[in-house]
Amino acid sequence: MKIDVLTIFPEFFEQVFDFGIIRRAKLAGIVDINVHDIREFATDKHQMTDDRPFGGGDGMVMKAEPIFLAIEHLLGTSNREEYAAGTKVILLSPQGRPLKQAFAKEIAECANHLVLICGRYEGVDERVNETLVTDEISIGDYVLSGGEPAAIVLSDAIIRLLPEALGSETSAENDSFSNGLLDCPHYTRPAEFRGMKVPEVLLNGNHAEIEKWRHEKALEKTRKFRPDLLTGENGECE
Ligand code: ADE
Repeated sequence: MKIDVLTIFPEFFEQVFDFGIIRRAKLAGIVDINVHDIREFATDKHQMTDDRPFGGGDGMVMKAEPIFLAIEHLLGTSNREEYAAGTKVILLSPQGRPLKQAFAKEIAECANHLVLICGRYEGVDERVNETLVTDEISIGDYVLSGGEPAAIVLSDAIIRLLPEALGSETSAENDSFSNGLLDCPHYTRPAEFRGMKVPEVLLNGNHAEIEKWRHEKALEKTRKFRPDLLTGENGECE
């Protein structure tokens, strides 16, 4: 998979992709990540990437032209109808569809080229959305100062699901959300730490009992912290 990130702060990404699973995936050629400075596509002498909003109001809006030029440079067109199959242009913004594990999975399985646009300021000229963007994604109901952390979150969630990126296939299958529930608790050695004991059932080697316990605990956690996942309010499991 190829990932191109468009940002006005390319330095933000200098090291984040150089650890753990993402680093391994890069070294193995599973993913190729390139970060581009939107400013380099600005045409005026001050290389402005933002301007005042029409209609007045606070803050600045990211200009359409540098983003259009960047997309044309990367994809050869600024018409989303003409993108190659498997190409997604994703705008990270608090107005987007909430990021879900199912979306990360779908992208990992079906896409081969992502362009992530990191919005800043009060927003991005809507013509970017109307013409270039295939998906607008939010990573939660809070406002960040820019889409950069969101682009990192989305990339991580997708890359770890790419075939062969995780050490073992089953580790992704057992993730929180992949079965509509939060993950169950985990323990490792020692069996007793400062008087706190690992639940007996995990030590007895009875796999059927262990699976039952894990499912019950996953349900318990989900009921406590994310009851919406059980009622289907969020569309995960009806
Ligand atoms: N940019 C600012 N806030 C954001 C959010 N919650 N998700 C994605 N991008 C953002």
